[in-house]
Amino acid sequence: MGKTSSNTVWHSKKLSKELIKAVKKAVKFAYAPYSKKYVAAALYCSSQKIYTGVNIENSAYPLTMCAERTALFKAVSEGERAFKLLLLYSPQIEFILPCGGCLQVLSEFAPELMVVTMNSDLQFKFYPLKQLLTKPFRYNDTNKGI
Ligand code: THU
Repeated sequence: MGKTSSNTVWHSKKLSKELIKAVKKAVKFAYAPYSKKYVAAALYCSSQKIYTGVNIENSAYPLTMCAERTALFKAVSEGERAFKLLLLYSPQIEFILPCGGCLQVLSEFAPELMVVTMNSDLQFKFYPLKQLLTKPFRYNDTNKGI
């Protein structure tokens, strides 16, 4: 892996190896019989734990859950509240990025999150979540409702 300006968040070779191993293992558990697009996410928490998630499709298509939210919900339901980095991988979609819905959900907990996406050749792209979703929905005085 070459030097990037994101070295500050790609904490160590050991961590990057662990995260890569985690997504590669997890993607085998993706349940995607309809789209055949298998997606995995590995979420690195401030607690230094890693939670993985995969996409879980349903024959009622809109009920499908994305890999990113699976990983985040697993982590949150285990008490995690602070997140540093999310690694994404799909063998079918090069440099997969989170959908808009996942960006919003991730932003709720981790506006400072670094999103890293990789391809099957182990090349990486780094995107701060803030760059992918510049104006997340938030409650404030101007959108309290009519
Ligand atoms: N998918 C994800 O898991 N994450 C994304 O951010 C985009 C899409 C899944 C949902 C569905 O199972 C498949 O990819 C094709 O859309």
